[in-house]
Amino acid sequence: MNDRRKEEVRLLGENDLSLYNGESDSNGLYLSVLGQVFDVSRGREHYGPGGGYHLFAGKDASRAFVTGDFSETGQTDDLSGLSPEQIVALFDWLAFYQKEYKPVGRLIGRYYSENGEPTTALREVEEILAEGLKLKAEAQAQNKRFPSCNSAWSDASSGRVWCSTMSGGVHRSWVGVPRKLFSPGSSGFRCVCVQSEDPTALNSPLLKEYEDCPSLAESCPVNTL
Ligand code: HEM
Repeated sequence: MNDRRKEEVRLLGENDLSLYNGESDSNGLYLSVLGQVFDVSRGREHYGPGGGYHLFAGKDASRAFVTGDFSETGQTDDLSGLSPEQIVALFDWLAFYQKEYKPVGRLIGRYYSENGEPTTALREVEEILAEGLKLKAEAQAQNKRFPSCNSAWSDASSGRVWCSTMSGGVHRSWVGVPRKLFSPGSSGFRCVCVQSEDPTALNSPLLKEYEDCPSLAESCPVNTL
């Protein structure tokens, strides 16, 4: 009762972890994400031999969670070159395992040292995560200010785009007017709804009116030919 010692975190080496691949002679069924090891025996149908996600068993194949590259070379915990958005997606997987499966301990290697301390590599990934979360928040804010238009096509080259109080997955009190939103440095655009009482936005060089459509019309014809 008086034992207030911090519970010790179990540390596993790569070889220890490989003994938990769910095969008949193995010690159990574990996997690791970003160096955090989970007991996934409850998900044997996914991770056990013959399961579609068996490749994740007994190792840390963090990269494959976000690349979908399940080949031998794709099964690695090396995350170099991944985008901030992919790192956010990987942390979503980590949160999934934390919620759904029992934690076992830490994998000694790229993300945890022999003493179970986070490595510089983990700190670097966490920095990219912070950047990714910032980009995601900015994208969400932009999506709220400039929700995507509704669109309907009568054939491959013509149709119409229009705004309503529910478009682009955003419920709102205003309808807005369709505009082409260009990304800096790109010739591509997407249709967004802009509040007609938002003159700063309407005058932005990244927003262009649709041809043959009155400035304040809520619906515009589109002809790509
Ligand atoms: C990057 C690509 C993908 C990854 C990394 C991935 C990973 C996973 C993992 C780890 C599970 C097991 C989750 C658990 O423990 O319950 C799972 C389940 C599943 N996945 Fe995927 N998956 C991918 C793509 C897909 C695709 C393209 C489809 C469908 C076309 C798909 C369909 C399913 C289904 C149906 C389940 C079972 C869900 C359940 O039993 O509740 N997955 N996926």
